[in-house]
Amino acid sequence: MGAMKLLNVYDYREAAKKRLPRGMFEFIDRGTEDEVLLSEIRKALNAMKLDQYVLNDVSRPDTSVVVFGETLSMPVIVAPTGVAGMVWHDGDVQIARAAKTHGIPFCIATMSMASMEEIADGAKGANLWYQLYVLEDRGVMHDMLQRARNLGIKNLLLTADTPRSPKKEWNTRNGFGMPIVPTLRGGLDVLAHPKWLVGVLLRHFLNKGGLPTYANYPLEYRTKATRAAVSDKLGLARRLTWEDAREIRRHWDGNLIIKGVMQKADAEKSAALGADGIVVSCHGGRNYDSSPTSINVLPEIADAVGGRLTVLADSGVRRGADVVKYMDSGAKAVLIGRATLYGAAVSGEHGAEEVLKFLRDEIDHCMAFTGRESFADSRSPIRPMPR
Ligand SMILES: Cc1cc2nc3c(=O)[nH]c(=O)nc-3n(C[C@H](O)[C@H](O)[C@H](O)COP(=O)(O)O)c2cc1C
Repeated sequence: MGAMKLLNVYDYREAAKKRLPRGMFEFIDRGTEDEVLLSEIRKALNAMKLDQYVLNDVSRPDTSVVVFGETLSMPVIVAPTGVAGMVWHDGDVQIARAAKTHGIPFCIATMSMASMEEIADGAKGANLWYQLYVLEDRGVMHDMLQRARNLGIKNLLLTADTPRSPKKEWNTRNGFGMPIVPTLRGGLDVLAHPKWLVGVLLRHFLNKGGLPTYANYPLEYRTKATRAAVSDKLGLARRLTWEDAREIRRHWDGNLIIKGVMQKADAEKSAALGADGIVVSCHGGRNYDSSPTSINVLPEIADAVGGRLTVLADSGVRRGADVVKYMDSGAKAVLIGRATLYGAAVSGEHGAEEVLKFLRDEIDHCMAFTGRESFADSRSPIRPMPR
């Protein structure tokens, strides 16, 4: 990567910013509306302090955790992010491979740019989860679930926090959107980033016969030229209720994890319908700008349902210490979205792998400074955060 040595997730973010067209970078990086939540997430994580204990044997802290009966080498899961295949050619596969190398799961997104079969094939042996957006056409959704089942996927994340497309005015201004719609502004932006144009867009066009689009969607719903999904049937369901969640529970015999639970009452409902877990998530500040931060609501939710549900959490992880803060607040593992996207945007599998290595080293570092030999040995009780 030229002269600049990349030493942490923030360095990768800066390098990704240079490499990607502006519209693409902003799509990954930014929040929604006034981006209040985005800054609140950072502030809340920075404000949380970790207790330090000394003179324990922290020569080799054990960073592993067990989630749904599987040992993860660290409490990190790669979150579903629809556009991974737009930051690097076959980005989904590249990141899934990096996750495999690090012994952690990769969650395939409903809106991924490679199909779940392509990802499973390209990252053989990876621990794959599947994220489900409920679509207007429930038949298409059930077909997707069957395909995930056929691949041996056991863990299903049902994303419940996106009843509308988030309001991202900057996205309208910068001329980028999914599926890709050619605009003058977007075109000039792309031309100013020839490496991305050739390495991602053209390569995808040549290899897959069209512009990158949602590869899990059935072919008959796409245009021939751009292969964009054109049917309203593939829009996110505007009416999505607890009855849908119960219906999915009836059809899915693996672990069901509801993503985007931010209320104790909703966590209780998730437990009551027989979910196995939840992700306490404010969607990385991308969805609803007046939401509280995940780290603020997590302790209360984990206290209430942690004995019955596997409580996961996400949003804003850029350092290993952020992961540990989520763990101390009651999470069993933490999802990361943007961090591995920055990595993959810079150098594909290698970049994603390096970002995961930074996080792993920083988790080790943080455990050493706080005197923990393992996560089982958590000395810090779950503590309430001021709201
Ligand atoms: C570019 C991008 C695309 C995303 N797409 C999805 C998605 O398709 N489904 C979903 O449930 N969450 C999606 N998310 C949210 C992530 O799963 C996760 O909740 C969030 O990124 C965590 O915050 P972080 O990026 O600060 O780590 C996306 C996030 C990003 C950054």
